[in-house]
Amino acid sequence: MSLDFAARRAAARKRLDAIDPAKSGQLDDPYRREWFQAVYDLADGDEAAVPWADKQAHPLLRDWLKTASLAGLRALDVGCGLGDNAEALAAAGADTTAFDLSANAIAWARRRFPDSRVAYRAADLFDPPPEWRGAFDFVHECYTLQALPNALLPEAGRALASFLKPGGRLLVIARSRPNPAAPEGPPWPLSRGDIHALAAHGLTLEGLEELAPPNEPAHWRALCRRAA
Ligand SMILES: C[S@@+](CC[C@H](N)C(=O)[O-])C[C@H]1O[C@@H](n2cnc3c(N)ncnc32)[C@H](O)[C@@H]1O
Repeated sequence: MSLDFAARRAAARKRLDAIDPAKSGQLDDPYRREWFQAVYDLADGDEAAVPWADKQAHPLLRDWLKTASLAGLRALDVGCGLGDNAEALAAAGADTTAFDLSANAIAWARRRFPDSRVAYRAADLFDPPPEWRGAFDFVHECYTLQALPNALLPEAGRALASFLKPGGRLLVIARSRPNPAAPEGPPWPLSRGDIHALAAHGLTLEGLEELAPPNEPAHWRALCRRAA
């Protein structure tokens, strides 16, 4: 990250924190839809102004993909932002759909990857297109769950599980927290109990690793499977 990029990112974080009601504990918009939309609208094409946009797939996803085979599978990337994780799924051979609440984020991802094989689409995790029910072999989510208040995890978990075909898998990457007590956020890192509860919606937890990506706090990488 160049010094200039880092300075623009720090300034953007400050601006975005100032307009984020959740930072002062106000959750009148618990789904935080207005704030997420504002992030992309205010960024005005500057990737430094989108706090989570690292311009590369998450290292824990990249690492996982080295040994996984997604060839020919139908994959869904949830809360895809500017598209780097979705592109990694497509590069691993998956027929990939990626969605985000923000139409601006989707248009931006399409501009960044004009030759992409990913089907980018604006959609809401909590009101998804009905044809996505039971339609995917593989669902990936990175950092969207931790960006939502803990109270929404059951609803979010149900939505994630609903996308899977029987036998399909869900991969979740999120910051971890050691303490089961409710965290102060945003973000709201997930406890071990949160991960187990996520896996309750007709899913079995097949793997749970706690890992520290470079220069980052500890993260979960959790793999769940819907019963065949
Ligand atoms: C913390 S960012 C993570 C983005 C991306 N997954 C990554 O790892 O870089 C959360 C993303 O989820 C999107 N999002 C938030 N709520 C959503 C919802 N209800 N439906 C779809 N996307 C949502 C936001 O717009 C944002 O792009």
